Amino acid sequence: MIRAQPSLLEWSATNNGSTPDESTATVDDGSYSPPTDVEAFLRQYADTYRYYGSGKCALRDGLAAVCSPGQNVLVPAYLPDAVVEPLFELGLEPRRYAIYDTLAPVIADLESRADDRTGAVVSVNYFGFPQPGLKAIAELADENDWVHVDDNAHGALSVDETHGLLGTVGDIGITSLWKTLPVGDGAVLYCNDPEIADTFEPSDLAGVADSFTRSDLAFVCKSVAGDLLDSTAVLNDAARSLITSRSPQRESDPRGRYESTKVPMSRLSSFVLTRANPIEIVARRRANYLAWHALFHSRPDVTPVFDELPPGICPQVYPVRTAEAKKLLRLLERYGVDGAHTWPRLATAVLEDEAYETAHRLAREIVVLPVHQHIDTDTVVAIRDEIERSIG
Ligand SMILES: Cc1ncc(COP(=O)(O)O)c(C=O)c1O
Repeated sequence: MIRAQPSLLEWSATNNGSTPDESTATVDDGSYSPPTDVEAFLRQYADTYRYYGSGKCALRDGLAAVCSPGQNVLVPAYLPDAVVEPLFELGLEPRRYAIYDTLAPVIADLESRADDRTGAVVSVNYFGFPQPGLKAIAELADENDWVHVDDNAHGALSVDETHGLLGTVGDIGITSLWKTLPVGDGAVLYCNDPEIADTFEPSDLAGVADSFTRSDLAFVCKSVAGDLLDSTAVLNDAARSLITSRSPQRESDPRGRYESTKVPMSRLSSFVLTRANPIEIVARRRANYLAWHALFHSRPDVTPVFDELPPGICPQVYPVRTAEAKKLLRLLERYGVDGAHTWPRLATAVLEDEAYETAHRLAREIVVLPVHQHIDTDTVVAIRDEIERSIG
């Protein structure tokens, strides 16, 4: 059985117990010692950043600082529906640019959608990998005086050899901590441009909650219940998904989902991120990614989205493409892989526009598999072997 998300309970059982004060990047003799908690890890790469409850709220405050109502913002068409909600709230118009199958922007399309009301362009580091064409977007932003927003929601711990910590490449950037850590919320806004950092004024969505709340308790209870249920073979599907899903707003509309995240980062998430070991998380996720890759890289019916796992990348998931997504999902479910799904749920405006045909196809065909740090790589290998034996 492979769970969809990392487990808070498992983390607390294996956590090394270090506190923020013990986890500095340098020691007294000046030699480097790797950071032992996520906060120290972020501090190593970013000078100015703030915490938020969600990536969408971080995006909201970032865009509020650099754009004015009436402007438009270029975003890729291949994007979850709720991500543009902060733009609507700020009176900004999202203009979707087309992308290629490689996830790179179609630059001619992107340029054709810009005008003198364009304030910013968003690049997306899909699944924790730098977006192909990231450099071209940064250059275009520079030439046209647009703010470059580096959306790194998926790869909180991804450090690219060329760009450094993803999320710190643009003038501003965001990352979602909850997509990588065993927590229910948490995100970061990076103000990478010193001028933006100097004048930035956070809203009351920024920061960390003063105290632990009922939501923290609810998340802990859910995690404990989820772990207990994993050891219980007989369980009805509805009960399992009720207890193991992390997103309480799953079924609501995009606006509702955005609104429900408009709170500062929880105390619980702050507690975990000042103690979770980033080096270990990256190593485990990479090992699980490579274990899936060994199964899928040579299959005729399924194509990995990325050929390679470059050094320093912390994958959010293992993404593959297949024309038979439903069949693959059924197979994975049969072998006990929880949480595999197609990605993302596109906005209606995108689905209704034939110009975004590639995004439609990718959303139908890309299936993401879990690689999180609490999956034992041996389990992936065992499932892989079983699948290989049964379907050849
Ligand atoms: C590319 C991208 N950007 C931003 C977000 C928003 O992050 P959050 O869910 O933390 O608000 C998401 C969420 O899935 C995303 O996929």
